[in-house]
Amino acid sequence: MLKLGIIGTNWITEQFIQAAQATKLYQLTTVYSRHQNTAEEMATKYHATETFTDLTTFFKRGQFDVVYIASPNSLHFEQTRLALNAGKHVIVEKPAFSNPTEMAAITKLLAQKPDLFLFEAARHTYEPNFKAVKTAIAKLDQLQGATLAYMKYSSRYDQVLAGKEPNIFSPRFSGGALQDLGVYLVYDAVMWFGVPQAAHYYASMIKTGVDGKGTAILRYPDFDVTLIFGKNATAYQTSEIYGLHETILLDNNAADLQTVKLRRGEQTEQLSTPPAANPMIHEAEAFATMLSQKDHQAAAKRLQISQQINQVLYQLRQSAGIKFAADAKENQ
Ligand SMILES: NC(=O)c1ccc[n+]([C@@H]2O[C@H](COP(=O)([O-])OP(=O)(O)OC[C@H]3O[C@@H](n4cnc5c(N)ncnc54)[C@H](OP(=O)(O)O)[C@@H]3O)[C@@H](O)[C@H]2O)c1
Repeated sequence: MLKLGIIGTNWITEQFIQAAQATKLYQLTTVYSRHQNTAEEMATKYHATETFTDLTTFFKRGQFDVVYIASPNSLHFEQTRLALNAGKHVIVEKPAFSNPTEMAAITKLLAQKPDLFLFEAARHTYEPNFKAVKTAIAKLDQLQGATLAYMKYSSRYDQVLAGKEPNIFSPRFSGGALQDLGVYLVYDAVMWFGVPQAAHYYASMIKTGVDGKGTAILRYPDFDVTLIFGKNATAYQTSEIYGLHETILLDNNAADLQTVKLRRGEQTEQLSTPPAANPMIHEAEAFATMLSQKDHQAAAKRLQISQQINQVLYQLRQSAGIKFAADAKENQ
């Protein structure tokens, strides 16, 4: 049984704890929050035994094996660094790090800790329907490109309209539509089609200095993949992957693959299975399996994908001129 510590107390952490507990492979032992009452509430609800409000003490004294980090994006780097230096395995929410400089520093540190594991929590890529798409792509007569969409209005955009700067829309916290929702589609593209040879992002910027929505074009030798994503509007369109005579149809949202179908003319074949009630259960299982089996080879493959995603996100961000506070370190 893996002893689990958590950073971040928003709904996504609760969803991960519930998934982890459902696998029966983890036991939540330790909660960190900046606020004692929040830490205690979470600990009581999920039967954790320790709470901390100081991050250094959390890592120094906390009796856990693996930490799940679900804090604002810009904090992932330092929290991961502290965790690895404290001898803890890390599950860090997507997007793992703000830029390639941070990714390289963490990769270097991880290489000095050969017993430790680091996973980026890209939950949808562990789901059976994600794998069903990959299998279907391999069987297409000839891959001709794709249009993938994930655009959903965020209630936190109301705060932007009211003149505020919530973390998810803040360049200080490495926020914006690309980092938050576009990252799912970049994962789709890289894992289904490979690393693109060129990538450009046409971003609609908002007043906080990040992107509210936009369209990215990923160029492959024989086709293009268009990614449409955003947090200040909602798309209901279907995502599609094109063959010559066949088309793979995904739900409107290419990160929550409820149904996947293959269409040939008027004939439609269902390829998906009903998804798990908790979409994080498959990743929680996969991380625990790699950890318990000490499967460094599988973890290294996943780390390589994380590095590719980090590079493509950065390339897209550069093409749109989006700058984060975290990028200042790059010039030091
Ligand atoms: N995989 C998924 O499906 C999924 C879904 C949603 C989000 N995410 C990812 O999860 C991460 C967190 O996203 P979120 O929307 O939950 O972020 P958030 O609400 O801005 O912050 C998450 C937690 O971090 C702590 N926090 C907030 N502001 C902070 C600050 N200024 N300094 C230090 N700690 C702070 C808070 O915990 P305390 O107050 O207890 O300290 C808060 O509960 C992001 O990386 C996001 O991409 C993933």
